Amino acid sequence: MRQPLVAGNWKMNGSLDSIRTLVDGIKAGLGEVKSAAVCVCPPYVYIPQVVEMLDGTVVAVGGQDVSDQEAGAFTGEVSGTMLKDVGCRYVIVGHSERRSIYGESDEFTARKFAAARRFGLTPILCVGELLEEREKGITDEVVARQLDAVIELEGIAALADAVIAYEPVWAIGTGKTASPEQAQEVHAFIRQKLAGLDAGVAEKVQILYGGSVKAANAAELFGMADIDGGLIGGASLSADEFLAICRAPDAV
Ligand code: 13P
Repeated sequence: MRQPLVAGNWKMNGSLDSIRTLVDGIKAGLGEVKSAAVCVCPPYVYIPQVVEMLDGTVVAVGGQDVSDQEAGAFTGEVSGTMLKDVGCRYVIVGHSERRSIYGESDEFTARKFAAARRFGLTPILCVGELLEEREKGITDEVVARQLDAVIELEGIAALADAVIAYEPVWAIGTGKTASPEQAQEVHAFIRQKLAGLDAGVAEKVQILYGGSVKAANAAELFGMADIDGGLIGGASLSADEFLAICRAPDAV
């Protein structure tokens, strides 16, 4: 049995004050969350504050990105060792906003995935197709290519203790959620592809869905056989909404 995971990606949002309010709100409702593991991914600068506030709770903290390098003259970069040092357990790699806005390639993403693991972080590897790719019928091909870059560099076994997040780009921040069936189809494809290489890894890896997940649609999505939770953007900025999503696996 895979434990469901609900991770909040706060993206570039918040302030010292608003984050304090958000984390206080999440802490207040955690007692009602039964089955899901919970993680929040604040902007880098707020990570130490959030780690301190969440100390002694079950909520893990993650980075939103990580350098492919360890240390040195890489202005603006933050390494996996630093994230680990300030108390992160997870890190998102290859988010579609990194891939599409900042031009980060599959190979570069794979190097970030490797760096995350090397420094003891659990990578949350994002994959997903653009609308035009879905319309062309090449969703599976795109997702397979994104996964293959990581498998080629790190080997299939590296995915056993990683998390994959399927985030169709057309569903991110648009209010357009993939239907549970559409999402399940891609999740099943991912698991079958991995099973072709290593059945044990395929069975173990958590595959999250991301893209306009809200309290209102979470239970239906998380009820699908190969959906093991969610990576939540906008809805993770409201404590009540995020907690309701964290409780959704309890109803499944
Ligand atoms: P939204 O939930 O705002 O669509 O964002 C999803 C996402 O990109 C999470 O990483």
